[in-house]
Amino acid sequence: MFKIFEDGLRPVYWQNDQLHLIDQRKLPNEETVIILEKAPDVAVAIKNMVVRGAPAIGITAAYGVVLAARAAYAASPDHWQTVIETEMQQLAEARPTAVNLAWALERMKACFSKITGNPVSILLEEAKRIHQEDIDANHRMGDLGAALLPSNCRVLTHCNAGALATGGYGTALGVIRSAYAAGKINQVYADETRPWLQGARLTAYELLQDNIPVTLLADSAAAALMQQKRVDWIIVGSDRITANGDVANKIGTYNLAVLARQHGIKLMVVAPISTVDMNLADGSQIVIEERATDEVLTIGGDRIAPSGAKAWNPSFDVTPASFVDVIVTEKGVVEKPTREGLAELLSL
Ligand code: MRU
Repeated sequence: MFKIFEDGLRPVYWQNDQLHLIDQRKLPNEETVIILEKAPDVAVAIKNMVVRGAPAIGITAAYGVVLAARAAYAASPDHWQTVIETEMQQLAEARPTAVNLAWALERMKACFSKITGNPVSILLEEAKRIHQEDIDANHRMGDLGAALLPSNCRVLTHCNAGALATGGYGTALGVIRSAYAAGKINQVYADETRPWLQGARLTAYELLQDNIPVTLLADSAAAALMQQKRVDWIIVGSDRITANGDVANKIGTYNLAVLARQHGIKLMVVAPISTVDMNLADGSQIVIEERATDEVLTIGGDRIAPSGAKAWNPSFDVTPASFVDVIVTEKGVVEKPTREGLAELLSL
């Protein structure tokens, strides 16, 4: 069993000089934790989705740098900054789409120049700071996003953008948590989110832990839900937002955006500033991860497709900025996002 903090679940935490990760592949049926002491194992855990969600993998990689530095300093106290490079690279390559991973590694690297002697305590402080800042950002976004919702609101979310996908509290689920606490939410729907079922397994798990009722639907039921006027807002997280406001998020988000536009339903994207990538002009430049075809051809390890069937398994899609009603960040909100609007927000 993993530790539950005063403010709820945290998918990643540092304890007894070791990195602890909730094994999200096993939830909700098994509540287990994986303990890691080596950076290459952290890279594998990110790749294999022990931990997932853009901010959570960034935070995990930051703690991974602490483990890499500990090993590099033990092996070569005078040259640890060179020795560490291979393991930093392994962490950087673990998953391509969420920019938070590269962002967190850059932040850790920026500390290197001021370190003399053993780097572990300074790097651990920075990793913990990144982690706490993410939690604080989520609470701030929760308030900002909740303020935009009407009373008696019915919301639909996709994938898991909750505590399990972040340092804690969540982005999209942070807004839903804050709005629920304020008495503004009437109904929470969650897409099951094939193929990995983050919605059915993780979003439903977290919400029920907080006693927030949730109704699951097959991804393909979202159109009928909107047609029957059973939902007011779609609220999702993001893995990368480009300079013009295009949004990469879990595959199926674009479907929802197109449907929402057709049915006059609003789309809110909730993401910390660490998810905004001003180096990419638009979403066509985002590298979209393609995962193993077995994720589509099987369910829970059981093959569901005839042998010989092939599969296409992009893990993310890109929703054009023109389909997004509002982007909520910890620095403020941008309605009808544009390049200028995002640049102004970032300059604050
Ligand atoms: O493949 P995953 O589970 O890492 O994908 C996660 C998502 O797409 C989330 O919606 C996104 O990372 C935002 S999490 C706050």
